[in-house]
Amino acid sequence: MDISLTSKTKLYTLLGCPVEHSISPVIQNSIFAAKGLASAYIVLNTPPDKLLHTMTVLKENFGGFNITLPHKQTIMEYLDVVDANARLCGAVNTVRIDHGKLLGFNTDGYGFMQAFSCHQIDIAHKRILLLGAGGAARAAICQLLQQGCQVTIMNRTWEKAKRLEQEFAGKFSGSVTVISSWRELQNRYDCLINTTLVGMYPHTDKSPIDPQYLNRFDIVYDLIYNPDETKLLQEAKRCDCTTMNGFPMLFYQAVEANRIWTDQSLPGPAVRNLYEKLAHYLQKR
Ligand code: ATR
Repeated sequence: MDISLTSKTKLYTLLGCPVEHSISPVIQNSIFAAKGLASAYIVLNTPPDKLLHTMTVLKENFGGFNITLPHKQTIMEYLDVVDANARLCGAVNTVRIDHGKLLGFNTDGYGFMQAFSCHQIDIAHKRILLLGAGGAARAAICQLLQQGCQVTIMNRTWEKAKRLEQEFAGKFSGSVTVISSWRELQNRYDCLINTTLVGMYPHTDKSPIDPQYLNRFDIVYDLIYNPDETKLLQEAKRCDCTTMNGFPMLFYQAVEANRIWTDQSLPGPAVRNLYEKLAHYLQKR
């Protein structure tokens, strides 16, 4: 009899709304298995009015949790400690529960940067056009500015982009500006980053940018991982851009969250093996 879930199983979860399509349980449970830990990861659909109650229950029973839309910023006020990196980027996606205390971290930025390492790209001091101004944009901009990049933000809701600019301007070595129309585009950028949801399943026929502009970029990085090649990336490939999707970010933010919970890292070859397996699993879905 193979009974892997018992009363000793250490539990972790994802809080968000909606969460039912998340593949984080597949990734986190694979990492726990690779570490040989008796732990399990589930999802809990948590509307905003249930967040506080759910966290009270978790505090007594779980080892930690991830937070996704729409709680990444609001959760900060309920935590006992927020680490410096999460405070800098103004959002938390990982909480460790330690003797009843809630400790907040942000691993999205780490995942975001690992994608460049996977493609052997040095992004420091590059010119970036970043589309979107939500939670993912926040984590990305914070990292890019620390790398000395010149970031231009463009977003459907101009005010949200402007708020991010005001929040981050002058905090790091990089610079940040906002544009409100395609007419304001420069002739050349090193990298285009899409942090919007445009092109995500099931709206796979959409792209956030007219393909006529794509020859202005060397690299096009779409944070979407479903589908694994968005319309944006297909069109960017046709313009000979280097393309990157959102899977490395998704995977490595999870690896880092798991390290924070377990105080345990997987050896490099085991991480790469898991990466290949999960990328394959996602493509076959
Ligand atoms: P995430 O945490 O994944 O970044 P989010 O915080 O909801 O998600 O942010 C999504 C971003 O995608 C926002 O910048 C949003 O634009 P608004 O600020 O105007 O809401 C952008 N976005 C979502 N759907 C979009 C669409 N159809 N067209 C353009 N931008 C879109």
